Amino acid sequence: MTNKLATTFTGLEFVNPFVLASAPPTESKAKIMRAFEAGWGGVVTKTIGMHPVENVAGPKTIYQRASEAKPYVSRNKRPDTVSHSSWNWELISDQPLEQWLPDLEEIKTTYPDRMLIGSIMAGAGNEEEMDHWRKLAKACVNAGCDALELNMSCPHMDRKDMGAHIANDEDIIRSILKAVTGAVSVPIWVKLTPSTSSLVNAAGAAYAAGAASISLCNTFPSLPLMDPETLKFEVEVDGLVTSGGLGGLAILHQALQRVSDVSRAYPDKSISGIGGIKGFREAFNFIVHGAGNLQICTAAMEEKGSGGIGVNLIQELTGDLSDFLDRKGYASIEDFRGIARERIVEHSQIRRKSEAYNGGYAKSA
Ligand SMILES: Cc1cc2nc3c(=O)[nH]c(=O)nc-3n(C[C@H](O)[C@H](O)[C@H](O)COP(=O)(O)O)c2cc1C
Repeated sequence: MTNKLATTFTGLEFVNPFVLASAPPTESKAKIMRAFEAGWGGVVTKTIGMHPVENVAGPKTIYQRASEAKPYVSRNKRPDTVSHSSWNWELISDQPLEQWLPDLEEIKTTYPDRMLIGSIMAGAGNEEEMDHWRKLAKACVNAGCDALELNMSCPHMDRKDMGAHIANDEDIIRSILKAVTGAVSVPIWVKLTPSTSSLVNAAGAAYAAGAASISLCNTFPSLPLMDPETLKFEVEVDGLVTSGGLGGLAILHQALQRVSDVSRAYPDKSISGIGGIKGFREAFNFIVHGAGNLQICTAAMEEKGSGGIGVNLIQELTGDLSDFLDRKGYASIEDFRGIARERIVEHSQIRRKSEAYNGGYAKSA
């Protein structure tokens, strides 16, 4: 029997299109093994780097919830709340590359049919950093990674030459891709920051420089909330905060818009959709805007009792997608991927009640 959930994405065969995003659910061999056992089609490892990583001296992630009774958003525990978002200022993996390599090898040998994507990050602006990109890429691929995801999007790196600080700079994107594509021949996914107006151009530069896919979105730059009673931020160290990343349901609409923008500009290129997926309906929305692969982080982390890897979530996602395909008579997600694209138009192209409407301008006599 054919597996309707199977997808080919950037030339790789996925048993299902659902992938754990680069984050705590993929920070260790043990978690990734459990995730594959639970049924995830792939994982993107927590980002691996070569520079010293030291996280803040306090909580790295909080989960914010809203309630109907008093619909404010807060991490404070209250009855009858639903998830709103995650907020984090966690840096990349603090596990050294040398420790990751045997782990990656074991994971791939144990689960050869699951896709292992190594997320990597180095700096920018000099040859030494380009060498770091090359070294990371070669090492991860030699250890068995099927693809790489280049992290050019973490919104809260302490170093100014990394993550979203390099803010979709097309020259930097080109130089990093040149280094990495020259070093390895697996598909290269590029995770860009959603927080610049030059996103579509950046994606174009990445595709032109050899990226097989763009991954969107990383978390959105944001501040935590201050509690009016305590006058403290809901997460802080010594009373201080800095911009961190918002994830989860709260970013769904913004993430869809970024995916739509890139997918409409480059309809023949691949895109992996991320941001606020909690179940089939959100995943469906990314697919109709063109995503051929779905990545999930916050919803997996929030799942109680499964060690933060979404054991029930992956069952639900695959079950609901399978039911949907059967109900609609679709052979795979390719049958409805991208169907929303042509229905996204300029504001002035939406029908007005008056025939006199002229795109917001007075009609010339
Ligand atoms: C605690 C935490 C750590 C993260 N670490 C990374 C990381 O190391 N590399 C990366 O590319 N993205 C990282 N992300 C971003 C996620 O991969 C994902 O893009 C984002 O959370 C949006 O997806 P979601 O709405 O499903 O959470 C992290 C997110 C969270 C919440």
